[in-house]
Amino acid sequence: MAKVVAGMIGLGTVGTGVVRLLAKEKKIFLKKVAVRDINKARADDIFCSVTNDVYELINDPEIELIIEVMGSDQPAYEYLTAALEKRKHVVTANKEVLAKHGPELFALAKKKHLAIFFEASVAGGIPLISTMLKGLEANQINSVTGILNGTTNFILSSMEEHKISFASALAQAQALGFAEADPSADVEGFDVAYKLSILSALAFGHFVKPDSIYREGITKIGQKDLEIADSFGYRIKLVGTASRFSSNGNPKLDVRVQPMLIPKQHLLANISGSNNVILVNGDAVEQLAMVGPGAGQLPTASAIVGDVINLANALHLPDFAEYFQPEIESGWSTVTDEGNISRRFYMRLVVHDVPGVIGKIGTILGKNEISIQSIVQRGVKDEKANVIILTDFVRHSAVNKAAAELKGCDFLDELANLLAIFEEQ
Ligand code: NAP
Ligand code: HSE
Repeated sequence: MAKVVAGMIGLGTVGTGVVRLLAKEKKIFLKKVAVRDINKARADDIFCSVTNDVYELINDPEIELIIEVMGSDQPAYEYLTAALEKRKHVVTANKEVLAKHGPELFALAKKKHLAIFFEASVAGGIPLISTMLKGLEANQINSVTGILNGTTNFILSSMEEHKISFASALAQAQALGFAEADPSADVEGFDVAYKLSILSALAFGHFVKPDSIYREGITKIGQKDLEIADSFGYRIKLVGTASRFSSNGNPKLDVRVQPMLIPKQHLLANISGSNNVILVNGDAVEQLAMVGPGAGQLPTASAIVGDVINLANALHLPDFAEYFQPEIESGWSTVTDEGNISRRFYMRLVVHDVPGVIGKIGTILGKNEISIQSIVQRGVKDEKANVIILTDFVRHSAVNKAAAELKGCDFLDELANLLAIFEEQ
């Protein structure tokens, strides 16, 4: 049987893993790899022909599929569009380009009877995409919730377990190859927003514009919050969720990424390091959980090479691209405003230690119809104290309004943190 000829764009952390795994595959020939800097030193065991001209691959009639592991929006979008125009199938790990241009890319692939495979774009080595596309086809999906970023989970777990600083935990994640080229994509929650856009397309039929997704990152989480959360029976994790939501009878989606306090006994609280976890709720299957490595060289390459093998096996069958393609509608889903969502909140205030402060805080919260579940004062130092409040269920918009009022009070030194508390749906 003739080998399937592939070209690849990118030879960084993931691309290097792909070359290593493809070396064992007899059915696939990786003809050429495009890189940015042709003079950069590569690992000793990486033998492949490299170029810095991506169009050498795109214009090569022998190449049937392009593996894209370069990342970012542009010029990746230009290259993927050009590859599809030249009738090449695509395997990509790039969630940013899919989240921002998914409708156009999938429409073009459909028009040209080509396949786009993207298992590595969400949850690294976990076969989540194929499970949602094929294994859960009989379900109406109600929600997808999880820890979808390995870097931030690694940072939060390391800060909690080893009491190290945010900066040194991030440096370790970068050295281990989990982080994006620009780590703000991880720590500010953009990466999870891109993944939620892709998961929304699979679960609900439309991509969600990443900039319409409510997003909070983890840079505001310090040792103090981790310690206090622990004392209340919680761990702090960056959680992404996409679910159906009805607002005044209009079907919408609730899609958001935010650090949350998770009860320690919950599965989400017990996933550490660069691992990911996803809870999918479907009307027939009810709830299923998938756990595994969410980032890193070989786990990610495992997903990509799995896609390449699937594609190579089916490539010459009639109508195979239609069989593999997700049913994604053109256009974008609308999401509800985060302010409409009710949940419980954790609030940490640093206040001047003077009489009457707790009463004044209670008055402001009461005025905004926020019921307090628990309020404690911790550790007076330099005449300042931490006041921690756990609220009852309340709309996010009401908490934001109360927070703005508290910020205007002279007893307040700092509103150190305001975080949502995770509840099982
Ligand atoms: P990386 O280490 O930064 O590698 C990027 C590669 O792309 C490099 O080889 C770079 O060339 C090449 N490149 C960048 N711009 C280029 C251009 N304009 N033309 C040609 N080549 C270009 O990134 P990575 O960690 O491997 O991630 C790659 C993709 O996989 C991203 O979309 C990322 O989100 C996704 N992903 C990563 C992981 C992970 O754990 N790292 C997991 C899942 C998904 P040079 O080598 O010459 O600089
Ligand atoms: N930077 C991403 C993460 C890579 O840490 O999860 C995997 O998508």
